[in-house]
Amino acid sequence: MTKSRLQPETQPETQPQTSPQVIAVASGKGGVGKTFFSLQLASHATKLGKRVLLMDADLGLANADVMLGISAPESIHQVLQGQSRLKDIIVDSGHGFDVLPGGSGLHELTALATAQQQLLLDEMSAISSDYDVVIIDTAAGISDNVLYFVSASESTLIVLTPDPTSLTDAYALIKVLSQQRDTDHFMVIINQADEREAQLVFRRLLSVADRYLNVHLELMGHLQRDPSVRNSIRSQSPFSEQFPTSLATALDAVLHNPRDTSRSSGLRFFWQHSLRNALNGEQADPATEMPHNMGGIR
Ligand SMILES: Nc1ncnc2c1ncn2[C@@H]1O[C@H](COP(=O)(O)OP(=O)(O)OP(=O)(O)O)[C@@H](O)[C@H]1O
Ligand SMILES: [Mg+2]
Repeated sequence: MTKSRLQPETQPETQPQTSPQVIAVASGKGGVGKTFFSLQLASHATKLGKRVLLMDADLGLANADVMLGISAPESIHQVLQGQSRLKDIIVDSGHGFDVLPGGSGLHELTALATAQQQLLLDEMSAISSDYDVVIIDTAAGISDNVLYFVSASESTLIVLTPDPTSLTDAYALIKVLSQQRDTDHFMVIINQADEREAQLVFRRLLSVADRYLNVHLELMGHLQRDPSVRNSIRSQSPFSEQFPTSLATALDAVLHNPRDTSRSSGLRFFWQHSLRNALNGEQADPATEMPHNMGGIR
């Protein structure tokens, strides 16, 4: 198997930019590799000379803090309580990028008072010029919080595996986002698949999406099942020189995907959009019914 090191670039690529590139990493089904890819994206962008913030928007236990082996004593909860400034809860990953711990405070996004809304907007505004790239690692599924974060981001990366339920759950997420949240462009990575299998899975997703939805799906790459991934996560050292070459190819494709200027006004847009949805009290319809031909791919 071909292995490669994710080499740092000699020339930083950072361009003067008015707003950070905000990428949400999402999936329908859990455990498909969102947090792993979020961490790799953060690390890869850092090596390209970008100033990177990884936002942990997963309320579960197996999150970025755990994979990095860092402790985050405070979260957005403290900010909403007026006890901390956002810039003070950001922690150093130890790998050149910053981490914003979501924690239980994210539940409060659905019930923010106007004063809290303004507070968060001001806080996010204050830090947005510190970053070129913001990566949001979301929870699995179609919860309101996931929909807020994804729909308000500039771009969305969907991670799925060849597992048939991963395919149908990814389709359900794409369907809800396109029909209810005005999101029509999705980058896709197929995890735990070789190239042939990844093409097969993507074609299956594409054929159903093309028939039933008005969306644009783009395959950014794949990553085969590899023991170095599991071992790196187990040992809380998530960055390895042993990862397959296809990982670096996929990460490059995501980070160099052309920016969507209609959605790229950065974190301020991100939060305003999230908060507007929250304040409007929008209820997500899971919309999980599947087309009849959405079977397994094997
Ligand atoms: N390419 C791979 N090869 C081998 N194991 C992998 C690969 N990708 C992911 N894994 C395994 O899958 C596990 C789940 O990955 P990860 O935590 O990134 O998924 P997730 O989508 O963030 O899960 P959750 O929905 O619970 O947040 C990892 O601990 C790792 O062991
Ligand atoms: Mg995760």
